[in-house]
Amino acid sequence: MEDAFILKVNDISASYGQSKVLFGVSFNLGPHERIAIVGRNGAGKTTLLKCVAALLKPTSGFVVYEGEEITGRKPFEVARAGLKYVHQDKGVFQDLTVRENLKLSSYATGDYDWSKVFKYFPKLKILLDKKGAGLSGGEKQMLMIGRAILGSPKVLLLDEPTEGLAPGIVSDLATVFCELSENTALVIVDQNLSFISKIAQRVYGIKEGKMVVEISDTQEIQQASYSRFL
Ligand SMILES: Nc1ncnc2c1ncn2[C@@H]1O[C@H](COP(=O)(O)OP(=O)(O)OP(=O)(O)O)[C@@H](O)[C@H]1O
Ligand SMILES: [Mg+2]
Repeated sequence: MEDAFILKVNDISASYGQSKVLFGVSFNLGPHERIAIVGRNGAGKTTLLKCVAALLKPTSGFVVYEGEEITGRKPFEVARAGLKYVHQDKGVFQDLTVRENLKLSSYATGDYDWSKVFKYFPKLKILLDKKGAGLSGGEKQMLMIGRAILGSPKVLLLDEPTEGLAPGIVSDLATVFCELSENTALVIVDQNLSFISKIAQRVYGIKEGKMVVEISDTQEIQQASYSRFL
C-alpha cells in the first residue's frame, strides 16, 4: 500500500551548542498537501525546517521522505531527491541577473525547462536581465520559489515567504501556492495568519520549541484564531 505521507518528521530535537531549541517535534505531510507551521519569533520554526532539509543535524529524532530515512544525508542529496528548502532571507545572488540565477539552479538540477517558472511567475520573464540586487522583495521571493521549482520537487519547505511583501503580492502567492500543490506538497512557515487561513489544509502551532497544537478543522483554520495557542 502506498504511504499516506510523503514526509514524516519524528520526535526531532535540536540544539545550537548548549542551547536547546527543539524538543521532540513531530509532523507529517501528505502528497499534494499544504500545511502551515505557525509560531512566534524564536519559537524554532526555521530550525525545524533546516533539520528537515538536512541543513542542521538534529540531536535526536528522524525524518522519513518517500518512505526512506534521510536524517544524516547531505543537504544537496536531499535537495536532489526533491525536498527543497526556500530560505527566509530571500538570498538570491545579488550580482547575477535573474537569467543567471535561474541558470545556476538549472545546472544544479539538470532541468532547463523554465516554462513552469514563467507560468507561475510571468513577471520573471520581463526581469530576466535585471540583477538580483535590483529586485524588490516580492520579485526576489518569486525568483527564490522559481529556482526551487526547477527539478520538479515533491516537497517545498517555504520559510516566511510573505515576510515584508505588499498585500497584493501576498494574495498572488496564495494563488500560486494552491496551484503548485497539484504537483508539490508544501510546508509553509509564516506569521501572516490571514494568508495561512486561505491556503493551509492543516496548521501546526509551535511554541518554545514544542508542537502545541494541530488543527485540521477547515472552519477553525479559516477563522485564523489559532494564534491563541501560541
Ligand atoms: N545559528 C544559531 N546559533 C545559536 N542560536 C540560534 C541560531 N539560530 C537560531 N538560534 C536560536 O534558536 C531559537 C529558534 O530560532 P529560529 O530561527 O529557529 O526561530 P524562528 O521561529 O524561525 O524565528 P523567526 O520567526 O524570528 O524566524 C532562537 O532562540 C534563536 O535565537
Ligand atoms: Mg525563522
